[in-house]
Amino acid sequence: MARIVVVGSFNMDLVVRLPVIPKPGETLLGGVFATYPGGKGSNQAVAAARLGGEVTMIGRVGADAFGDQLLAAARAEGIDTRFVGVDPHTATGVALIQVDAQGQNSIAVASGANFTLTAADVADAFARLDRVDMLVMPLETPLETIVIAAELARKAGARVVLNPAPAQHLSPELLTTVDVLVPNEHEAAFMTGIEIQSRRQDARRAAEQLLRSGPDSVIITMGSEGALIAELAEPAPIFTQAAAFSVDAIDTTAAGDAFVGALAVMLGEGQSLTEAARFASAAAAIAVTRAGAQPSLPTRGEVEAFLRLRTSA
Ligand code: RIB
Repeated sequence: MARIVVVGSFNMDLVVRLPVIPKPGETLLGGVFATYPGGKGSNQAVAAARLGGEVTMIGRVGADAFGDQLLAAARAEGIDTRFVGVDPHTATGVALIQVDAQGQNSIAVASGANFTLTAADVADAFARLDRVDMLVMPLETPLETIVIAAELARKAGARVVLNPAPAQHLSPELLTTVDVLVPNEHEAAFMTGIEIQSRRQDARRAAEQLLRSGPDSVIITMGSEGALIAELAEPAPIFTQAAAFSVDAIDTTAAGDAFVGALAVMLGEGQSLTEAARFASAAAAIAVTRAGAQPSLPTRGEVEAFLRLRTSA
């Protein structure tokens, strides 16, 4: 069983489904409201736990009802929450999400307690963890927590999977401690300045540039276009692709988190990047067919059944 540590966020997602996402200044009636446990970190942790990982989370919630609900949801998935602090002064993270009829979303986040996580919290947790195979991190906690976690994980012999979401410019010091960088096409474009229109050319150029910045491999996820995998090699990087599975999208929220969590489990179990990315694409495809962040994340049995069906079709 892969031992996975996630340093990341907890948000309560307040979601309104509407035919279209309102423009600035516009009011639209006719929405349907729901709340779901979310936050990229906690989604990735839940994804990994449902797919068979042994998961520990390092993070912060507030001392409020949302914090209690998010912690209870993580514990119900078997996630070790010993290192999730409760901040008495800051509210739990909240995401206001609008989802349209095509399943596309817009997300406004109030990070709250997620941004009170400190480098000392992370160092304390690592000092008390006995084995770590994979460290997984999105960018919804302070950058110094990400940097120290990556350094400590490397020292502990773990592989570091960094999901640069939401996009930020990252230092070479951080990027050289990353084993697998997993941006989507927008994040890759932000980090490289290369507009990604074609998977063959633009995505390859962006992946090559990202590889030169430090990580051993880069996987650019491109929604219905699949994923491009680039690995450092001599004399030139090796590129492979994971095809996307065609599905009817209901809600794309957390599809990227499903991908990252699944990828970490498969890599932790010793699968190759290409095999892991194929499994992760299937997990993401299932997630877009369901509403909400964490309720959409599939179990191992569901992904295996989906892959059997799609392979024999
Ligand atoms: O990746 C999806 C997540 O992004 C949502 O659950 C929301 O909380 C935001 O963090």
